[in-house]
This record gives sequence, C-alpha cells and structure tokens, in this order.
Amino acid sequence: MCGIVGYVGDKQAVPILVEGLKRLEYRGYDSAGIAILENGTLYLDKTVGKIANLETKIRGKKFAATTGIAHTRWATHGIPNDINAHPHMDSNGRLAVVHNGIIENYRGLKRFLEKRGHQFRSDTDTEIISHLIEEYYNGDLVEAVRTAMSQVTGTYGIAVVSLDDPDVIVVARHGSPLVLGMGEGEVFVASDVSAMLGHTKHVVYLEDREIAKVAIDGFEISTIDNVPVSRELEEISWDLDMIEKGGYPHFMLKEIFEQPTTVHNALRGRLNFDEKTARLNGLNLQFDELRHIRRIIITACGTSWHAALIGEYLIEEYARIPVEVEYASEFRYRSPIINDGTILFAISQSGETADTLAALREAKRKGATVLGICNVVGSTIARETDGGVYIHAGPEIGVASTKAFTSQITVLSLISILLARMRYMSADEGGRLIEALSNVPSQIEEILKHDADIKKIAEKYYTADNFLYLGRGLNFPVALEGALKLKEISYIHAEGYPAAEMKHGPIALIDDKMPAVVIAIKDGVYEKVISNIEEIKARSGRVIALATEGDDRISSLVDDVIYMPRCIPFVSPLLNSIPLQLLAYHMAVLRECSVDQPRNLAKSVTVE
Ligand code: G6P
Repeated sequence: MCGIVGYVGDKQAVPILVEGLKRLEYRGYDSAGIAILENGTLYLDKTVGKIANLETKIRGKKFAATTGIAHTRWATHGIPNDINAHPHMDSNGRLAVVHNGIIENYRGLKRFLEKRGHQFRSDTDTEIISHLIEEYYNGDLVEAVRTAMSQVTGTYGIAVVSLDDPDVIVVARHGSPLVLGMGEGEVFVASDVSAMLGHTKHVVYLEDREIAKVAIDGFEISTIDNVPVSRELEEISWDLDMIEKGGYPHFMLKEIFEQPTTVHNALRGRLNFDEKTARLNGLNLQFDELRHIRRIIITACGTSWHAALIGEYLIEEYARIPVEVEYASEFRYRSPIINDGTILFAISQSGETADTLAALREAKRKGATVLGICNVVGSTIARETDGGVYIHAGPEIGVASTKAFTSQITVLSLISILLARMRYMSADEGGRLIEALSNVPSQIEEILKHDADIKKIAEKYYTADNFLYLGRGLNFPVALEGALKLKEISYIHAEGYPAAEMKHGPIALIDDKMPAVVIAIKDGVYEKVISNIEEIKARSGRVIALATEGDDRISSLVDDVIYMPRCIPFVSPLLNSIPLQLLAYHMAVLRECSVDQPRNLAKSVTVE
C-alpha cells in the first residue's frame, strides 16, 4: 500500500527512482511523484494516475541529481489528484516527504501547526509531517525527524530529503515497512525489496520506531529515542526475472501458470515418505508442544482468509483439533479467549498486512504462541512470530492473489497431516495424503492445459453482471475465493455460498441472466450438489460446473463443464482453485479491465 523509493549514490537518481516505482506500482497506483535535490534546488513533480503519467510529465527534462525520493500512492486521506500526490513539501519548499501509512492525530497536529503559521496545500495527513519537521528543524535533519515523529500517532514509513542536508535521505518507520539496500557507493531505500532487486541483494530491514540517516557511504540506524542500533545486512534470495512478466501479457497469468512449480516449492523437503507425515521445522515447536495444542485460531485478511477457512476444514477433519478462523480486522478489536494450549496462525502473503499484524500482536500479548504462514521472507509478520512456515511462492505481483493462495493451502495441508499423524491418523492414511499432495503439481499442469477451453467459457459469460459461486465442505471456501477473484479483477458482482445455503436467499436472484459456477466434483456431497444444480436449472439459471473427469451425467444437466482430474477430497481445493482463477482472468481481460492493478485495490494493505 503506497510504494516508497529513495536513492543516494553517484548515478542519476531519476531513472533509478522511476524504475523502482514501476516495480512497486502494484502496491498503489492512483498517483505518483518524485523529489530530487539538484544544484541547490528542491525539484518536485507529481501527478494523478499511474507511473506512466509521471514519466510523461518528466520526459525530455534533463536531471543530474544523484539524491531523490519517489512515491506511488493508494489514497487514504484526500482524493487522488495532483495536489494530494506525494511528495509533500514544507512551507518554504526546502524539504520533501513521502509517506506510507496513516497519521491518526493529524487533525490536532494540523491545528497546532496552523497556529504557528504553517499553511497547508493538500488534504492529506502526510503533509503535516513535512511541516512538523520544518517546525522542529534546528540544523540537524535526523533530530528534527525524531522530534516530529515522536509527536505522531498512527503508522508510517517515511523518507525525507532536504536542501539543508543535500546528500542524505532520512527514513523512519513505525508499522509500514522500509528496507535499505547497500550497493557499491550507493544506497537504496524502498518499501519493499522488489524496487531495488535490479541493483543490490544486500539489505537491512528497519524495525518499528527506528530512524536511519542514509548517505552515499552507508547508513546509521537509531531508535526514535536515540539509541544507536547495529544490524547485519541480509541477502535476498529473489532474482530479477522472478519479478518480470516473462512473456506473459499479465503478471496474474504468469503467476497462475507458475503454480505447478510454486506448489512443488511449498512441498519441497517437507514430505516425509518414510514416516508418512510432514516435516515443518520452522514451526520451532517441540513434539510435546505440538501434541499439547488444544485449539487453533487462524487469522488473516482477503484471499489469505479464504485459505484459513480451508485450513479449518483440513485441520478439524484430519487432526481433530478445534479451529476458529477470524478476520484479523475483527480479531484485533475483540477480546479473544486465549487459554493454555491455544496457538494462533497468522496467514499473510505480504507479511505486512496491518490488521493481521495487529491481530497477532494482540494474541501474543494474551500469551498465545503465534506462528506465521508468510510468503515474503523477512517481512514484519514473519519476524514477529515465534515460528512459522514460509510458502516459498516467490514474488507475487498481480494484486489479485493466485499462487500464494494455493501455496498457503499446500502448507495448511502439511500442517494438518503433521498434527493428525501425532494424534489419530494411521500411517496408511498419512501415506495416502502425502502421496496425493506430491501429485498435485502435475495435476495442476494438466488443468492448465484446459486454459483455451476455459477462455471459451469466459467468452460466453463475460457480459453477465452477477455471478453465484457454490461449493460445499472443503470447496465452499474455494467458491468464496472464486467469487472474490472475479469481483476483484472484472468488477462483476459475485457471491460465494455453501451450495445448500443457496435456497435460503440467493435463489431469489436466479434467472437466465445470473450464471452460477458450481463445484460438483465426485466427493461425499456430490449427490447433494447435483440436487442444488437441479434447483438452479428449474429456475432457468445457467450453470458452469467443475466436475470430475468421466462424469458424463453432469454434462446433460449443466450448460458448461470444466473437467478436473480425479483426486481425493483432501487435495481438491488445490486443484479446483485453478480453473476459477483462469475463468476470472479471462473474463477480466474480455472486459478490458486492468487485470494486474484493479481499481481501488492494493497488494499490500499496510493501513487499518
Ligand atoms: C489485499 C490484497 C489481497 C490479499 C489481502 C491480504 O486486500 O489485495 O489480495 O489477499 O490484502 O494480504 P496478505 O498479504 O496479508 O495475504
């Protein structure tokens, strides 16, 4: 949510900043801006719209600056327009600030600053930061930032440049990620590593309530209370080609097609065929501690929350441990009951989602062991948990999550086997499940071969205004996720429902204009789902069914069928998710939507 880039070095800053912004565009994309220090002046350009608009605005201008900051915005306070775009300057145009997060007490601070003679130009909360720093500046930029940020409540990742300290960027973090990258004679600043991956893999992450002074020869970190901090550089394992489209028209399609590999990566080294269980050392829990688990809470947002629901079905069914799934945004404001034997899993692709982070901190405060299921290595959630499992899906750039979802389910499947084999599950059953999991990557490859057929189905239905997605049991959350994917990227209204629940409301909506996507694979509820399909057909509804290959009966009943490989129910969410992703993708493309950067959304939501 909002991308920040900064550069201090011996190269021209502008191309590096713009390239960095493009890599971060998935974080927010309603406006963009840049501030550089050039020959004793602070030059600032910003504009509403995507980064391409900013490029057009600065095209043809010659810049020699070697220090600068830049921002791509996802609006919280103030509509997206040129004035509200970052960077924001102080009264005298001597310093500029970019900010990710929300300043909760900005109104009070604004009143205070107005009384002191400051005049504001924008409707943003961010602008108070530049004026506060100006107010407290007394010859030392770091100290001014320190004093300013100690007045602020809320969340922030900021980068500041000033004419009074021309070869320096001062950054500060509380709740919104910031990372510093060390090159040779240059230092990069960004809100995530993808912005600097083309230049360096040696990084250091700032922690909450830390400030850093960044100059050409390195950086000095201290806490907001002025305690010096020393921290080792870490090496990033991601490569540049992992964050490029690799010949696909969209990141989302590339990421859908990566799933045979990403699911394989999530399983790699974790299937113990000898003992017919899973191996998950990162949980950092001893055998006795795992055996002692009496109750599990899983908290997450968005797509990760749907993965959590699948985890609930899997863990309860196979390990027989009670599981509750909570929206992180709700959990953090409840008074959750955490007793002995309760552990909490926080699932987050980015590892930075503000609500999920707050929920896990709340659980920790109440004494729960907190574990993470994250994709981004070194992310805040990964660092703040007692242990966890990385999903190893590689960078996910498309705002609508696809490969991270299936990798999260893969990890939850492994967790359920591990916990089950310590309790009631026989070795035979354990063996059957790990065998099934190991076959998933090749089964996904088979499903992806049907892409052209799924596209044809999309061509038949993409003009519909509403869709219903139905599934039962483990495939109910898959239906929820299918509907979410369609909503997010095609802006078609879609609702997911447990198939049988349809008759308690949504059935009223069914007519020949409202297609239903029904997951009707051969499992324990197959016959029941067929009855639900009959109910839709009896009301002239159109049905697209996901069915098990060889099921000839269903083709005479429904309008379109997508055939799925045979599988045991345990792995069916992993397989059934794939065609639903493709269906949403093709409908969005046909509707000429911005697939990778859907309107109003952001990849990583670091505000409440
Ligand atoms: C945003 C994204 C979703 C994502 C959710 C949770 O809303 O647009 O795709 O599922 O955040 O993100 P996380 O990184 O915590 O999984």
